[in-house]
Amino acid sequence: MRSFLFVPGDSERKFIKAEGSAADALVLDLEDAVAADRIGIARGMVREYLSSHRDRTRTQLWVRINPLSDEKALPDLAAIVAGTPDGILLPKTTSANDAMLLDHYLSALEVREGIEAGSIRIMAVATETAAAMFTLGGYAGSTKRLWGLTWGAEDLSAAVGASTNRDENGDLEFTFKLARSLCLLAAKSADVEPIDTVFTNFKDSEALFKESQAARRAGFTGKIAIHPDQVEPINRAFTPSPEDVEYANRVIAAFAAGVGTVGLDGKMLDMPHLKQAHRVIAMAQARK
Ligand code: COA
Ligand code: MG
Repeated sequence: MRSFLFVPGDSERKFIKAEGSAADALVLDLEDAVAADRIGIARGMVREYLSSHRDRTRTQLWVRINPLSDEKALPDLAAIVAGTPDGILLPKTTSANDAMLLDHYLSALEVREGIEAGSIRIMAVATETAAAMFTLGGYAGSTKRLWGLTWGAEDLSAAVGASTNRDENGDLEFTFKLARSLCLLAAKSADVEPIDTVFTNFKDSEALFKESQAARRAGFTGKIAIHPDQVEPINRAFTPSPEDVEYANRVIAAFAAGVGTVGLDGKMLDMPHLKQAHRVIAMAQARK
């Protein structure tokens, strides 16, 4: 799963536009992209979209609900679970307890709707509050539904009272770099997917591609898009290139004799490199 495209839950026009998208998943949004007085309309539209798009082989359908601390969250779930979303994106998660609470809600609703138990997955937006930053180590073993963790710099800026999350060079301020790294480590420690956050400047595809490549180099396996034009650069950045595959095959071949460490192109390689090479091949296979 390389690309998740956010689609505001109350926009017929954007639902239609998203149809043709090559995103691996759409995230139909009931939270920040929907005005307070439109939530009822949005819930109905999201439910209808899910129900009329049952074939998810090409594109998964996820829903971002409101945070569990908000009274809108339960009505969101009650409205949309019947459409069998592939997953729920849970914003402003404070700790793994939120993911476990959502797990229980989903278990009850799956029974009500006759949906296979445990089939709806969870991705938590794990760095949107100050308190959340101190609980990131707690996701391991929390719930089997947990599929991934992602992070957010926008809500965290508001949470800490920052006027911007960038420094004078345009790079992320340290607090937000910390959020990014801790999200990655939290996901890895929980053995779930680390998914990189949105890139808001949607006209700049080249910068998005570079940021996506950097995210992949760092260990992230996908990224969130906010505009249809962002899907292609993200997919490209998270798909191993023919050169990546060729190199990974050479690494695997170099270890074929069963040794623990080898030299290749004048560099020492050991087990972590072999593991990474297998990961690249697996990613390339998954894209075929
Ligand atoms: N999903 C589906 N379609 C989208 C889209 C999205 N996220 N963003 C834009 N489009 C559509 C537009 O409706 C337009 O289609 P149309 O010509 O049929 O009307 C086309 O793509 C081109 O859009 P463009 O004019 O370049 O952008 P815009 O000014 O209409 O929209 C945003 C810009 C940022 C408002 C829009 O991209 C958006 O709503 N993004 C998602 C925001 C969101 O969900 N945020 C919450 C998570 S942070
Ligand atoms: Mg937000």
